[in-house]
Amino acid sequence: DKIVLAYSGGLDTSIIIPWLKENYNADIIAACINVGQDEDMQKVQEKAIKSGASKVYIADVVDEFVKDYVYKSIKANALYEGKYLLGTALARPLIAKKLVEIAHIEGAPYICHGCTGKGNDQVRFEVGIAAFDPDIKVIAPWRIWDIKSREDAIDYANAKGIEVPCTKDKIYSRDQNLLHISHEGGDLEDTKNEHKADILYMMTKTLEKASDEAEYVELTFDKGEAVMLNGVSLEPHEMLAQLNQIGSNHGIGVLDMIENRLVGMKSRGVYETPGGSILVQAHSLLESLTLDRNTTHTKSILALEYAKLIYDGLWFSPLRESLDAFFEKTQEMVSGTVKIKLYKGNIMPASIDSPFALYDEAISSFGESPLYDHKDAEGFINLYSLPTKIQSMMKKKVQQQ
Ligand code: ARG
Ligand code: SIN
Repeated sequence: DKIVLAYSGGLDTSIIIPWLKENYNADIIAACINVGQDEDMQKVQEKAIKSGASKVYIADVVDEFVKDYVYKSIKANALYEGKYLLGTALARPLIAKKLVEIAHIEGAPYICHGCTGKGNDQVRFEVGIAAFDPDIKVIAPWRIWDIKSREDAIDYANAKGIEVPCTKDKIYSRDQNLLHISHEGGDLEDTKNEHKADILYMMTKTLEKASDEAEYVELTFDKGEAVMLNGVSLEPHEMLAQLNQIGSNHGIGVLDMIENRLVGMKSRGVYETPGGSILVQAHSLLESLTLDRNTTHTKSILALEYAKLIYDGLWFSPLRESLDAFFEKTQEMVSGTVKIKLYKGNIMPASIDSPFALYDEAISSFGESPLYDHKDAEGFINLYSLPTKIQSMMKKKVQQQ
């Protein structure tokens, strides 16, 4: 038989190869899916073979990831629990889809992943796999073997002669792609510990090392999609890569939060999302100018639901597609240009402009305008306050009895 292994070259997936070979009579096909992690794919490939894989696939899906997953999420302003930009959660379904494609090419009945039994990722992978092939059998070694901690995993790796990228004192569990890097575990598990910015950050400069000069960035959006950076047209993945550079230099987009995992526990994570944070901020500034009040409010409620379903691994679902249709419709007029100022972790609005602006200086200003007569407000308030007046009259009457 054949087993397709979701392989990253990291600790968790590296020790899986010798373990699978010991426990299953199968060829291991390592699948390295490039979603923009800062990793030398050539080295990952060599490492897979050295660890005992019989074949390696490298699939580059960075442009698909940003175009079809990240950009959709930004149109919705999807933030899990109001904060997390879903960097990991957005990549998992696409990786799952690619794993199934590779399993089909190879005729492999099994897909194996290195997620622990305590996290979200196992759910996202397995729901994603099921969406494309309900018959594939999943092997999740972390739910089977006796290795119980990352320390155990390092010991096992050493015993099998596998190089590990981390040592026992730098033991963070990390996940990176072009949108973000996440850090969990180690000293972060104690919420009383401040995160150690200078050893932790991998995409972003610390606030202390961030540029002392503010920088202006101009983003042009077309129907909710960022298409130009400082007047230059860019593909979605180029846009995100360049904004990561710029954002990093100003210490933009670091989040240190306690989140509620799908599997029931709370966990603490630090996220670096420099470019993505700029995109979300700039996009919502443009929406503030171009979306009407009811659409804005309803959209923000649905954005929470959308973020939750992405977090919960339900990307490939009728609800996600339906919500996308709604968000797509709301973006018809979200075109224009936003200028922001970046400085020491802050994103300040500098200028917003759109041919579809609903904000009208003539109406909103304190001066006179033919569309708005101050006198009309009196009748409006009379009707608007009617239920309140009736309540109040009733209470007065009851008190007097
Ligand atoms: N807590 C985040 C999430 O659920 C990040 C998970 C990171 N995954 C990892 N394998 N290190 O999306
Ligand atoms: C894991 O447990 O494998 C990583 C964290 C997560 O999936 O939430």
